[in-house]
Amino acid sequence: PQSPLIAPSILSADFARLGEEANVVAGADWLHVDVMDAHFVPNLTLGLPVVQAIRKATDIPLDCHLMIDDPDRWAVGYAEAGAYNVTVHVEAAKDPVAIARDLRAAGAKAGLSVKPGTPLEPYVDLLKHYDTLLVMSVEPGFGGQSFMPEVLGKVRTARRLVDTGHLTLLVEIDGGINEDTIEQAAEAGVDCFVAGSAVYGAKDPAEAVRNLRAKAAR
Ligand code: DX5
Ligand code: ZN
Repeated sequence: PQSPLIAPSILSADFARLGEEANVVAGADWLHVDVMDAHFVPNLTLGLPVVQAIRKATDIPLDCHLMIDDPDRWAVGYAEAGAYNVTVHVEAAKDPVAIARDLRAAGAKAGLSVKPGTPLEPYVDLLKHYDTLLVMSVEPGFGGQSFMPEVLGKVRTARRLVDTGHLTLLVEIDGGINEDTIEQAAEAGVDCFVAGSAVYGAKDPAEAVRNLRAKAAR
């Protein structure tokens, strides 16, 4: 896919009108869907039946971000539901290689995410099994938090591994991305930018997507 990709997060959308909300960002590349289980993170959002319903309501590829315990058991269901990319957290996965294999076998891209405090080095060898790396730039759980620039070192490391041919991977960032923070993330080498409040909090979400894309172009 052509970078930069913009992935609005429906966490900041109106949950009573998710089908319509998915389509007000028609120019978006992916629709980011935050699945939270009130165990891995201290918040509860939505699960598989809602993802199945959103899948029917829009043609935008779904980028499911699973902030849940035991992704080894649950992740493949999201691939089977037609998600384009399914991301699990390395802190929660027991057998990340098996998860990636199952996701790909079910026809999805496989994503691995690291929380802000989780280093990348111990997991670099895992990344060859994955298609996307999601670097969290806030503590997962809630939208509308402030961007943590200190995670950009991990973005630079991943960018270097991709640009030197050691890995084939899309580098994604999630948390606190807006018109003021997206440029520094782009400079560090992000391919795909998740934005929740900056898109759904805007008067014109489609215009917000266009503005973010323009600022991210490098
Ligand atoms: C946070 C979620 C994010 C959230 C981002 O745990 O993973 O996807 O929607 O929201 P903003 O862009 O408002 O930080
Ligand atoms: Zn997310």
